[in-house]
Amino acid sequence: MQAWKDYQAENKDRFLDELLGLLRIPSVSADSKYKADVARCADAVKEHLLKAGCDTAEVCATAGHPIVYGEKIIDAKLPTILVYGHYDVQPADPVNLWTSGPFDPVIKDGKIYARGACDDKGQMFMHIKALEIMAKTNTLPCNVKVMIEGEEEVGSGNLGKFLEDNTEKLKANVVLISDTSMISMEHPSIESGLRGLTAVEIEVVGPNRDLHSGVYGGAVANPLNMLCKLVASLHDENGHITVPGFYDSVIDLTDEERKTLNLAPFDLDEYKKDLGINDIWGEKGYTTLERTGVRPTLDLNGIWGGYQGEGSKTVLPSKANAKITMRLVPNQKPSEISALFVKHFNSVAPGCVKVTVTPGHGGDPVVTPTNSPAYLAAAKAIKTTFGKDPIPTRGGGSIPIVALFEKTLGLKTVLLGFGLDNDNIHSPNEKYDLANFYKGIETIPYFHKYFTESF
Ligand code: BES
Ligand code: MN
Ligand code: MN
Repeated sequence: MQAWKDYQAENKDRFLDELLGLLRIPSVSADSKYKADVARCADAVKEHLLKAGCDTAEVCATAGHPIVYGEKIIDAKLPTILVYGHYDVQPADPVNLWTSGPFDPVIKDGKIYARGACDDKGQMFMHIKALEIMAKTNTLPCNVKVMIEGEEEVGSGNLGKFLEDNTEKLKANVVLISDTSMISMEHPSIESGLRGLTAVEIEVVGPNRDLHSGVYGGAVANPLNMLCKLVASLHDENGHITVPGFYDSVIDLTDEERKTLNLAPFDLDEYKKDLGINDIWGEKGYTTLERTGVRPTLDLNGIWGGYQGEGSKTVLPSKANAKITMRLVPNQKPSEISALFVKHFNSVAPGCVKVTVTPGHGGDPVVTPTNSPAYLAAAKAIKTTFGKDPIPTRGGGSIPIVALFEKTLGLKTVLLGFGLDNDNIHSPNEKYDLANFYKGIETIPYFHKYFTESF
């Protein structure tokens, strides 16, 4: 549509400037030090929603960080799209590995470098600008509701209640999210599923104080040694997870589904080169695309204890800790899997140390249909702006609230993501290509148009 193209062309520098403004706000949800910045970011998002043409926008307080909600209702008889995104970001650590400040965005080689550039400020902001384009050119084809939360990166603990308390307000026909990746600009794709997640924390306690490893070593269990041994036993030599019952509820893909999944372009050499690894690793019998898309995993996210300062210290530490998350696939339930983990870990823990396993947050896996009117509208939108049909893929990451959209609001989700796997989300030097940012803004209005036309 020419009016959309023209509006974007005339305003593209301002769009970018506005995004850079949001990226300068360190809205790190995990760290209470940034609480005021998170709140400031919520206010900024609200102002952007109003400026984009929303009739109303508000910052809604929760027991945690606020949720920003805005809407533009043009006709109750028309379909409604509920856009979801998050304005909170992951911590920037380790900051010394960034080549520019994480909250001091710079443009280099056509890419925006900043924490949140891709996940999810850059992608969420595309929707606000797409809405502005449609509103200001009087071409909005349907009603739009926008909900941008501030706790996605810490598990969306308060969003479930917000959905329950606001089922009427959030009534819609579909949820639209840009918070995932596509294969590349040459191979546009749409994720048709997300893995679930369950987190556990482990503490292993030995003697009542740190000990001299010469005086006591060899005679008293070292909690760090014990923890490492236990953690190492969680995978067998084929990369399978050893927790009994872990795979029982996994729905295996049909041969046909596996074949389709593996049709997606994947270059192993490129993959290794990009990551600087000599070889890949994973569960025997599965391809890399299957390992990240449709198989469950178990990973240490942190393990600590003992002396970590300069030089060596001959100590037998009294305590060791670890944080683990497991990625889940249909039909694994987070609470069931963490219960299996707790049971197993306690059963293999030796009596010479005290082991405590505490289950943490989680989220259900989801599969989104690839034959629904909403998916087809998204595919047509991609085809319109990329000139190619999108490849359906399965995403390895998690967005815990997606399962609740279905459970609480009865809504299916379309994952119209424009990130790339190597955008360094959650890592130092997170980036988002300007080309992807602008292409996203160009594509989103077509989704609105085609989705509305499908009614
Ligand atoms: N946007 C990501 C999820 C994602 C990334 C999905 C790439 C697909 C492809 C999201 O912000 C995220 O990081 N989620 C967390 C959830 C957790 C904190 C509960 C994740 O996946 O680790
Ligand atoms: Mn995200
Ligand atoms: Mn994230």
